[in-house]
Amino acid sequence: MTDIKGSRILVVGGAGFIGSHVVEELLKEEVKEIVVYDNFCRGTFYNLENALKDPRVRVFEIGGDITQVDILDSAMQGTDYVIHLAALWLLQCYEFPRAAFEVNIKGTFNVLEACVKHKVKRLVYSSSASVYGNALQIPMTEEHPYNNRTFYGATKIAGEHMCRAFNERYGLNYAGLRYMNVYGDRQDYKGAYVAVIMKILDRIDKGQPPILYGDGSQSYDFIYVGDTARANVCALKSGASDSFYNVGSGTRTTIKEICELLLEMTGSKLRIQYEPEGKTFVTHRIGSTEKAEKELGFKAKTGLKQGLKNLIEWREQHKKIFSGEEK
Ligand SMILES: NC(=O)c1ccc[n+]([C@@H]2O[C@H](COP(=O)([O-])OP(=O)(O)OC[C@H]3O[C@@H](n4cnc5c(N)ncnc54)[C@H](O)[C@@H]3O)[C@@H](O)[C@H]2O)c1
Repeated sequence: MTDIKGSRILVVGGAGFIGSHVVEELLKEEVKEIVVYDNFCRGTFYNLENALKDPRVRVFEIGGDITQVDILDSAMQGTDYVIHLAALWLLQCYEFPRAAFEVNIKGTFNVLEACVKHKVKRLVYSSSASVYGNALQIPMTEEHPYNNRTFYGATKIAGEHMCRAFNERYGLNYAGLRYMNVYGDRQDYKGAYVAVIMKILDRIDKGQPPILYGDGSQSYDFIYVGDTARANVCALKSGASDSFYNVGSGTRTTIKEICELLLEMTGSKLRIQYEPEGKTFVTHRIGSTEKAEKELGFKAKTGLKQGLKNLIEWREQHKKIFSGEEK
């Protein structure tokens, strides 16, 4: 076990969707200080609103970009533990592979190098189930081949291998997490890269039938964001090193099932509209949860219905605040 009591933790990408939940989860522990390092290209201060009420949390004042090595170096000083979540997202990597290389690969290298330089005791790295690509077997264990064909997945594979090489060369103590499909409150719903659940809710809001491509049988392992945050803290506190873990619910849900559930939960009478299958990166993905449970003591707790309820409530609230209806 790793004792994080009284420690200073740097959360890289801590203003984002998962990162802001990680910060809140860390606050349940007796840590001394949590420093958020984020360039706010996707993260927001609003995500950190609750967390920043705790005097142990602050956003690094000078800057927050992992491509700015000297500023990163200065943030890393005196840090005991690092949780690294900063990355460009799947579709952004598809459109802008060079930017993805700079942030996800070179930026991650900068984080690893700084961890070694500042003798960070342990790192938790956010990888992704994207490293597996389309499922060759279900559920996917951590031994599943790297069947990825996306640039995003390529950056995550590079990140994993750099962690491993730094462990071998410099003894960097790390654990890596391969999240399945994460959903929940604070999920981006208005940017250029909106996830499927938010797209469905957007259509329902506008009174338009939700669109599914193909027959809606694409199936994924949806995990609530609060659970992924807990997985990060479990991984940080565990003694397991130099290994990667699936972070999922282990439950298979089709897009059609999600869509029907969202229609039911929002009380909508709309019917699903089916369109010809478009470009899908991955059509089936369900992770085995055994290894994380055994070695990290992590198991997802939030059921799909409860998680979606939290998401829908947050979304309503958030929209009201930003449309000026509520302050
Ligand atoms: N959400 C998912 O379903 C999912 C699934 C698998 C893996 N992941 C991984 O988990 C991590 C967190 O994902 P998320 O969903 O919270 O995404 P997010 O975009 O909300 O969070 C990433 C954060 O990193 C920050 N960031 C981006 N570039 C940066 C840079 N150059 N320097 C510093 N900060 C930078 C962003 O501002 C953002 O706050 C990412 O590494 C992502 O690849 C997410």
